[in-house]
Amino acid sequence: MQIWNFAPGPAALPAEVMRQAREEFLDWNQGGTSVMEVSHRSKAFLRVAQEAEADLRALLGIPADYHVLFLQGGASAQFAFVPLNLTVPGERVDYVNTGHWSRKAIEAAGRLCRVQLAADAGGAYTSVPRQADWAPSEGARYLHYTSNETIGGVQFHAVPEAHGVPLVADMSSDILSRPLEVARFGLIYAGAQKNIGPAGLTIVIVQRELLRGARPETPAVFDYAKVAAEGSMLNTPPTFAWYLAGLVFKWLKRQGGLAAMEAANRLKAETLYAAIDGSDGFYRNSVEPGARSWMNVTFTLRDTALDGAFLEAAEAAGLRSLKGHRVLGGMRASLYNSMPLAGVQALTGFMREFARRRG
Ligand SMILES: Cc1ncc(COP(=O)(O)O)c(C=O)c1O
Repeated sequence: MQIWNFAPGPAALPAEVMRQAREEFLDWNQGGTSVMEVSHRSKAFLRVAQEAEADLRALLGIPADYHVLFLQGGASAQFAFVPLNLTVPGERVDYVNTGHWSRKAIEAAGRLCRVQLAADAGGAYTSVPRQADWAPSEGARYLHYTSNETIGGVQFHAVPEAHGVPLVADMSSDILSRPLEVARFGLIYAGAQKNIGPAGLTIVIVQRELLRGARPETPAVFDYAKVAAEGSMLNTPPTFAWYLAGLVFKWLKRQGGLAAMEAANRLKAETLYAAIDGSDGFYRNSVEPGARSWMNVTFTLRDTALDGAFLEAAEAAGLRSLKGHRVLGGMRASLYNSMPLAGVQALTGFMREFARRRG
């Protein structure tokens, strides 16, 4: 049976990449060992590492004055290491609150500097705050936002205007899903386990001139300038995740790059939202249309007593991991780059049939 994996992260990786990794698993680069069994400082691995960075730079058009760092610790570690690298104690920073992951970032930063809420979607978190209503603070060191709220299914579809303040974004769940003007950002970070590769790797893209020295208590392995100086090999990096991310970047290039991803992701999201909106209220998505995520589509059933039956029947039909996050309930279908339109069509076909039988 064809299985479609709608997991929010760790998420499905492109089938083609997984097949290649399987083929190379025991004997990589004709060396008789696995890629995860060789030194990160070996010539062969260094080539992998450098190619991955070059491919990521090409895909995103990352300007030369930006470092690309391959770190560990997940996006959650960056919630603290961004302020530790970019601020001194007592400094003011602006955050935009659009839901679960913004709040986590705000909590972590609040222990290290003076956080001001430049905007707050508040309450049910079903929209992104209109930029005209933002109140940026005077002298903020940076402005932080979460480009896609993975749990709420709320996404910014345009890069906010930061008016000269360095813009910092948690792009864990929508990086590489469409073209991006990196030059508009001071720093971008993302955990790998959605659109990049396996968990264990975290990417930080940071403008060089923003790094004026991390706070002295910052561990060297999270001091961006020190890590950059060592080519992200200040200590042993997550080599297998780095290698696999490199395969994903090459796959993305073969697909036609981020413009092709954008077209595909738009079509997939439109297909699923159309099925929800066209269900006569059997399914419902409560996010404002302009802020509906292309990556994580949340929906509820009119009759929540049917949730269990829906999930069970979906599983039986090969549609996996549709249960919504425990804090929100309902359903969530994650449609990252590796999910083809056929998977979304299988889901919408199933949803129509389920509604017809149980509606
Ligand atoms: C937008 C966003 N930020 C941060 C995180 C936390 O990432 P990690 O588990 O890699 O620390 C997640 C995880 O799902 C996320 O979706």
